[in-house]
Amino acid sequence: MGTMTTRPTKSHGRLSQSASLQPRELMTDRPRLKGAWTAKVVTLFPETFPGVLGASLTGKALKDGLWALEPIGLRTFGLGKHRQVDDTPAGGGAGLVMKPDVMGRALDMACSGTPADPTKWPRVYLSPRGKPFDQRDAERFAKADGMTLVCGRFEGLDQRVIDHYALEEISIGDYVLTGGELAAQVLLDATVRLIPGVLGNAESTQEESFQNDLLEHPQYTKPAEWRGHAIPPVLLSGDHGAVAKWRREQAEELTKLRRPDLWTKTQTED
Ligand SMILES: C[S@@+](CC[C@H](N)C(=O)[O-])C[C@H]1O[C@@H](n2cnc3c(N)ncnc32)[C@H](O)[C@@H]1O
Repeated sequence: MGTMTTRPTKSHGRLSQSASLQPRELMTDRPRLKGAWTAKVVTLFPETFPGVLGASLTGKALKDGLWALEPIGLRTFGLGKHRQVDDTPAGGGAGLVMKPDVMGRALDMACSGTPADPTKWPRVYLSPRGKPFDQRDAERFAKADGMTLVCGRFEGLDQRVIDHYALEEISIGDYVLTGGELAAQVLLDATVRLIPGVLGNAESTQEESFQNDLLEHPQYTKPAEWRGHAIPPVLLSGDHGAVAKWRREQAEELTKLRRPDLWTKTQTED
């Protein structure tokens, strides 16, 4: 495994500069808060980052240095004139497999200077075979100092790399994507918005779906009547207790109806 050192303890409010391995306009030469949560992403397509993460609140937080993104282009580590990164599967069969020697060198670089402790610095391989990603994972990742993500392509990664670096396999759902980049952005979006200051309004994550294992109640806004549909009167009553009770009941009904698995979980945990 690559040399890993303990990161300096967090000191909020101080700015530092860090050069990315793949200079990208949105990610390099920008101030970042010293010790800011950092995502290192090993990918064959570094140009697909920050992608959607560059928009709206996650994009503003990235610009302001509240979190940092370092895409690491796998092709740089490829072999020979053609910078080969893949080869035919051992045992035969269709497709190509990402080479362990190439990915190993990229991961050594990605791991250098990061804590070896996976609770402080999770190392994740996006994979349809992985544990289904959920809000608890996002909370766990957001509490770390940062994380390294490996985006697969082709038939995926040589198993020895997964074993050697003890990569945690995470899936974003029961379907097969062409590559791990979209999955990495989904995981990062859900994680980064939990980092203090990113949403601007700390309260807005408190009552969302999956907090307390319940789906969120329906939301309404003005006008009070739209095309003959009225906002439920209780929401306009000014009675905060009644509003809270209505929302809780709605959340429970929706969860029972749409996600009986989650509902069973809340019942057994209570
Ligand atoms: C075409 S897929 C490989 C699928 C693999 N041969 C299999 O059957 O499990 C290429 C890459 O896309 C990513 N990927 C595909 N589906 C994913 C999912 N549901 N969640 C996370 N990553 C996914 C992984 O990084 C994977 O290595």
